[in-house]
Amino acid sequence: MRNSSVILASSNQSFLLKNASCVLTMNPRQLDNGAVDALGTLRNINILVRDGIVVSVEPAQNYAIIPTDARVIDATKWLILPGLIDSHVHPIFAGNRAAETVMKARGLSYEEIAARGGGIRMSSNSTRAASNSELQENFLRHAQNALARGVVLMDAKTGYGLSAEEELRHLKCIIDACEKEHTRPAIAATLLGPHAASPEIPDFDKFLDTLLEKLPELSKIANDAVAKGTLVSAAADIFIERKYFTKEQGERWLNAALNLKLDVHVHADEFSRSGGSEIAFSLAKARKQLPLRKAKSGRVLSVDHCQFATENDLSKLASVGVTASALPCTSFVSGIPYVDAKIWRASGVKVAIASDFNPGSAPINNIWLACWLALTKCGFSLNEVIAGVTINAAYALGAEHGFGTISVGKTANILAVEGNNPEDFFASPIGDHVRMVMRAN
Ligand code: NIG
Ligand code: FE
Repeated sequence: MRNSSVILASSNQSFLLKNASCVLTMNPRQLDNGAVDALGTLRNINILVRDGIVVSVEPAQNYAIIPTDARVIDATKWLILPGLIDSHVHPIFAGNRAAETVMKARGLSYEEIAARGGGIRMSSNSTRAASNSELQENFLRHAQNALARGVVLMDAKTGYGLSAEEELRHLKCIIDACEKEHTRPAIAATLLGPHAASPEIPDFDKFLDTLLEKLPELSKIANDAVAKGTLVSAAADIFIERKYFTKEQGERWLNAALNLKLDVHVHADEFSRSGGSEIAFSLAKARKQLPLRKAKSGRVLSVDHCQFATENDLSKLASVGVTASALPCTSFVSGIPYVDAKIWRASGVKVAIASDFNPGSAPINNIWLACWLALTKCGFSLNEVIAGVTINAAYALGAEHGFGTISVGKTANILAVEGNNPEDFFASPIGDHVRMVMRAN
């Protein structure tokens, strides 16, 4: 049964969200008593949207005359906030790894399962065997499920290719699917070629050489799709971890990507303090990146997982404007430790929260469960969690200018859940309370 409606707000259309009980703009506001309301909470508000842009956010009582051309939507019973952003997602794959759930239940770890031929390699086999149309259908199904739950901007990592040619095919599938179908979240594409060992080229350095050779072509295709407006942004990523890629290999891949004007992310410090966050810091520092990033591309955006990153590692990321992403669904499924919000808070780093949806370590395409676990298992506060899937997730994808807040002049990416207080964000751990998703198109 459908319990939410998806509205694509495009040109020549106007909408009035009337008398919203509570609006979290995510623009921090100083209160009369001097305290800061980080959520930018407003009460009894009308939001007017024209041509996919928010044109006014005002107290409902100021509205003597309702614009006649606007479709009026009653928001009296709604908590409204910016559309959600899932900033770390692996949605282009085929097949499943259900058998691993049974193995995990018997006590095998993610690394032990990978050593027995499971893991990323297994998903790569089924993804390689899938046709372009099957991959596109799968990708769009995942993207549309996310949109129905309120996700207006979603990361889309490749990474199940494990060869340069397959990586190219998967990137093209993402772009082609986005061109064909507009009822989906906006997409930020991420090239995760160096995700695990290639079956044909088991030597990691040699495999990386083949990916580096292909990178100019990959980045041209991705950057062209950004210029055309098909993608929101284009980035590269690498899995830096024992038995996967080393710090040095990470540095080579990420530097090459930055030189091609791609943004970069790092899968880092997930099973051990692998040095991924250190590399991100040193690359950002070498490029003189500051907490308020000015560039529009070639940025070190985020370091993700970070279970084993120290407070000092995270503080360094804060000093150069790199966001750290907590991915608690991976801990939930794979039995690895949850991150400790106390350490992240003390470090001052900007925190994003994402699903890490993928067929193995987190087969959960549900940003709400990530939020729930971030609150209840990691210890992040309500404000931190909501910022983590709105404005901070926008920073993690380098999309802070277009997404993550409800602001006059910004695109109308808006979510409504049933409720009238910020706490109602947590009314359901799976998003059953989503009532309306507006995505500017
Ligand atoms: O983010 N850590 C590496 N990559 C993915 C796992 C992918 C998989 O298990 O298929 C992750 O958890
Ligand atoms: Fe991941």
